Amino acid sequence: MHPASHTAKGPLPAHVGIIMDGNGRWAQQRNQRRSQGHLEGLKTAKRIVQAAGGLGIAYLTLYVFSTENWKRTAGEVGFIMGLVKQYLAAEMDFFRKSRIRIRHAGDPAGLPREIAGEIQRVCEDTQDFTGLQVILALNYGGRDAIIRAIRRLIAQGPQEGPLTETEFRRCLDNPDIPDPDLIIRTAGEWRTSNFLLWEGAYAEYYVSDKLWPDWTAEDLREALARYQTRERRYGGAGT
Ligand code: IPE
Ligand code: IPE
Ligand code: MG
Repeated sequence: MHPASHTAKGPLPAHVGIIMDGNGRWAQQRNQRRSQGHLEGLKTAKRIVQAAGGLGIAYLTLYVFSTENWKRTAGEVGFIMGLVKQYLAAEMDFFRKSRIRIRHAGDPAGLPREIAGEIQRVCEDTQDFTGLQVILALNYGGRDAIIRAIRRLIAQGPQEGPLTETEFRRCLDNPDIPDPDLIIRTAGEWRTSNFLLWEGAYAEYYVSDKLWPDWTAEDLREALARYQTRERRYGGAGT
């Protein structure tokens, strides 16, 4: 018997976050435009959403566009926004059939109005679906999310007693969603790039050298298997 089969396997993560990186490099390697990389990246996102649902993951947060990604050319930004809109419109049947609930993390106020409107519509149309929840982090920044939570707190007026983590958490975009258990980054860079700063305090990290357009369901399974071998101690002394 393989030695690995004697090792106790931990549970699957309930919430997986993915920093989908490497679209530009994928295109560059092929002497293609960056937009071609984003197009392929969208195909991967569809594959991974399908795979995550099949594997029984409850929440999948996809980092689609950061608050810093506005630094890119208007052409690239416009292309990505167009892809998001197209994805939401084209996949509605798939969401319905697979009972997928779409949610948004990030500041809708900073998005082009038609994109914000489309997201809101799809979030509403899928809100009763009880399958996989896919959270699209779009115009998302961890620092921005914290600042917006603080603004909500201030708007609530003075509270009794010192602020607690539980109360603060309630002011974040999606307070009902549990913290990510596993954060995956593709394309080999070891940084958070402003992703889930508050919620990811005790997330396990997994970095894959493969570029996002090359990612497959098998890569997701591998990441989950590696996660299952980790011992999460949360600051305790461990077992
Ligand atoms: C990730 O791929 C997609 C977004 C950040 C929108 P990149 O476009 O960052 O790809 P690289 O990092 O340039 O390869
Ligand atoms: C992080 O990737 C954001 C998304 C994947 C949407 P970036 O490509 O923007 O991150 P940096 O610039 O390499 O840190
Ligand atoms: Mg990148």
